[in-house]
Order: sequence, then C-alpha cells, then structure tokens
Amino acid sequence: MNKDIYEIGEKIELGVIPEFMYAVTLREERFGEPNESMRIEKVKVPDDIDEYEVLIKVVVAGINHNVIWAGRGRPLNVIQNCKKLDLDQRDYFIPGSDGAGIVWKIGKKVTNVNVGDEVIIQSGYLGKESDMVKRSEIPNIRAWGYEVNGGTLAQFTKVQSYQCIKKPSSLTWEEAGGCLVGAATSYRMLCHWKPNDIKENDPVLIWGGASGIGSMAIQIAKMKGARPIAVVSTKEKADYCKSIGAVGIINRNDFENWGKMPDINDTVEFAKWREHVKKFRYAFFEALGEKKSPLIVFEHPGENTFSTSLAVVDKFGMVVTCGGTSGYYGNFDLRQLWVYQKRVQGSHFASLDECKEVINLLGEKKIGSCIGKVYKFKDAIKAHDDMAKNKQPGGNSVIMIE
Ligand SMILES: NC(=O)c1ccc[n+]([C@@H]2O[C@H](COP(=O)([O-])OP(=O)(O)OC[C@H]3O[C@@H](n4cnc5c(N)ncnc54)[C@H](OP(=O)(O)O)[C@@H]3O)[C@@H](O)[C@H]2O)c1
Repeated sequence: MNKDIYEIGEKIELGVIPEFMYAVTLREERFGEPNESMRIEKVKVPDDIDEYEVLIKVVVAGINHNVIWAGRGRPLNVIQNCKKLDLDQRDYFIPGSDGAGIVWKIGKKVTNVNVGDEVIIQSGYLGKESDMVKRSEIPNIRAWGYEVNGGTLAQFTKVQSYQCIKKPSSLTWEEAGGCLVGAATSYRMLCHWKPNDIKENDPVLIWGGASGIGSMAIQIAKMKGARPIAVVSTKEKADYCKSIGAVGIINRNDFENWGKMPDINDTVEFAKWREHVKKFRYAFFEALGEKKSPLIVFEHPGENTFSTSLAVVDKFGMVVTCGGTSGYYGNFDLRQLWVYQKRVQGSHFASLDECKEVINLLGEKKIGSCIGKVYKFKDAIKAHDDMAKNKQPGGNSVIMIE
C-alpha cells in the first residue's frame, strides 16, 4: 500500500506518488533572510499533471540566489505575484531554479520524455505549452522557482515538458543538477551579444570569479581561447579560480572607493574615485601581463562594482550584466559611455537552445560543473544562509534530496 509521505532517502518505487512530500517553503509572514524565511514543511505533491506537464522526482537541487531573493519578498513578493498572474494560488512558495531528477509521471501529449528518464530541469519558463508561440528565443521568459511557484527544493516538482532536457550519462547527479542556471546565463552573457561575443585572445574581466556563474564564465572564456582575469576576495578563491583556468587574479580587498560614484562636483571624493579606477586598471594590466583593457566585463555584483566596470572596459567593449548581488543601483560617468563608444548590455538566463548547448558542453566535459559543497536536504536553509553571507566555497553547491 502507498504511504502518504516518504522520508528523505527512503526508496519510492518508480511512478508511485504519495499524497504529501517534504519541501522548503517560503510564506509571506516569514519573508526575510534565509534563516527566517525558509522552513521544511509537509505539503501536497503537485500530481495534477496537465497534458503537456511532467512530474519529476527531484534527486538534486542547486543552491541559488533566486531562493534568497524570493525569501526576502522584495523587490518581488513572489507569492502575490503568482496569484496576480494566475500562475499559482498557493499561500506558500517552493523556491529552487536548478535541479535534476527522474520523470515520474507525464501528461497525455508529452513526447520528449518518458517515465523513468533522468533529466535536467531548465528554469526558463515560457508559459504552458499551449500558450507558447516561439520556443527557441526568450521573449517573455520567467524564472521558474522564483517568478513561478513549485521549484526544485522539494521531493517532487511539476514542470512543463520543454523544461526537461535529458541528463547526459557522463554526468553525476550532483554535476547535472547544480549548475545549469549559472552555466547557461554565463554562456549567453559571453557568447550571444554580437559583435561583442567572446573571441580568441580577448582579455575578459570576471567579477566574483569563484562564484556559481563566475566559475562557469572562466571555463567558457578558457574554452574560447580568451584570457579570463578573475576578481575575488580571498586567497582560497584566488587559488580556485587559477585551478579552473583564470590567467590572472585581482583581490578586490586591495582597493577602496567601491559603490556608487561620488558626485562629480565633489572634487576631493571624485579624485579619490578616479585614483581607485586607475589603480584597478593597472592591476588588470599586471594580472594579464600586458597593457590591454578588458573587451568584456562580466558583471553581476552590481552596485558595488558597476561604475568601475564601465570605467575600465576597453573602447568599443561591453559590460554585460545579469545581477545586482550588492545592490540594484548602478551608476557611471556618461562620458565614458559615449566618448569611448562602450556598450552596456543586460542579459537574462538563456534560450532553450543555449541551455541544450551548455548541457552538451558539460556532457562532453568541455566545461565542468564546478561542484562545491554537497549539502543534505535538512541543511538546505544553512546552505542558502551561507550563500547570502558570501561564505560558499568556490563553484556551485548542491542539495541532495534523496
Ligand atoms: N539574470 C540571471 O539570469 C541570473 C542567473 C544567474 C545568476 N544571476 C545573479 O548573479 C549573481 C551571482 O550569482 P551566483 O550564483 O554566481 O552567486 P554566488 O556563487 O553566491 O557568488 C556571488 C559572488 O559575488 C561576489 N561578491 C559578493 N559581494 C560582492 C561585492 N559587494 N562586491 C563585489 N563582488 C561581490 C563574491 O565574490 P568575491 O567575494 O570572491 O569577490 C561571490 O563569489 C546573483 O546576484 C544572481 O542572482 C542572475
């Protein structure tokens, strides 16, 4: 007889669907830092599978900033957002945008996977299959597990069939479930934005080189024959970045004057800021071993670094950004933009085709998943607390749900 819930680690026969499951939940009254916002609760398994939907038994979930942003409830109240857009009416939110697992049940019109298949979940949500006009680009992409409820931090999750990509057999579960968000985002940031896409020999500046996305960016740059210089805040992270292909390192603790640019009329502070930029630019030359500025600056810390990024990128070069870990307010000196004809480019996750290309690269071992720490499900809250406090080891950490 089926049990109504299975413990984490307990074997469940393929296709058996209990009524309840364990999941990490967020609720409005708890919005805050991970320690406050996240709880493990017993909730209903989402077994109401539509014709194009798939129920997955999650084996591994990736640790991701989306969980932290969702838990803070600002700038987006993820629960009210789902209700307003009629995406989900639950009073709790299950976060998690990275993961891999086993197909447990499929809708009547699903053709790309079968029960028992091992899949990686891609988190670019384009609506229900019947709503979709064009699938290969990303016109109205939503971050599933952040803007769309029912993410990977649970024993079971319901996805659209196009979110399932077969897991290459060469990847372990940890490698498969921990890095797609970072890998695909980095891939698009570096390879999509022509004519500023990465090319052989290009000097590239990568902020947070040991981060989830930074570690993937270093490897993609290396694979393309470019010259990645990583910025870090500790010696351990410096060693890590070198081990995965950074040709040079800058420690950001050697610099001051981060954050918003001072008022241009405050001559003392403005002069200090210019001195900071000059020193940073020379640190880049030294790390590269040549007096050349970066043609691409890979941005994601945001407020703390953005003005420096635009100042140091080469003429005709591009600052490409996907985040604002240190704050959302980015500012810069407009003269830098027009005089040197620089480009500021926003980039958000990746298309379905880009996800597939990246999974092929991972499967063929042309880039690695850079798995950092492997947590147990009971430690999911601590894992995200570590991430919020910038205490993660290098690479992408994961949570095992089996
Ligand atoms: N839009 C998208 O599709 C998308 C996709 C993936 C990620 N993201 C965003 O990208 C960001 C990074 O994600 P992740 O998973 O790689 O995070 P992560 O692994 O936690 O890494 C964050 C990195 O940022 C650096 N950092 C932290 N505070 C900083 C500061 N004040 N100044 C400069 N650097 C700082 C840290 O490096 P050091 O301390 O060593 O310098 C750290 O390694 C997040 O904001 C995430 O939401 C966006």
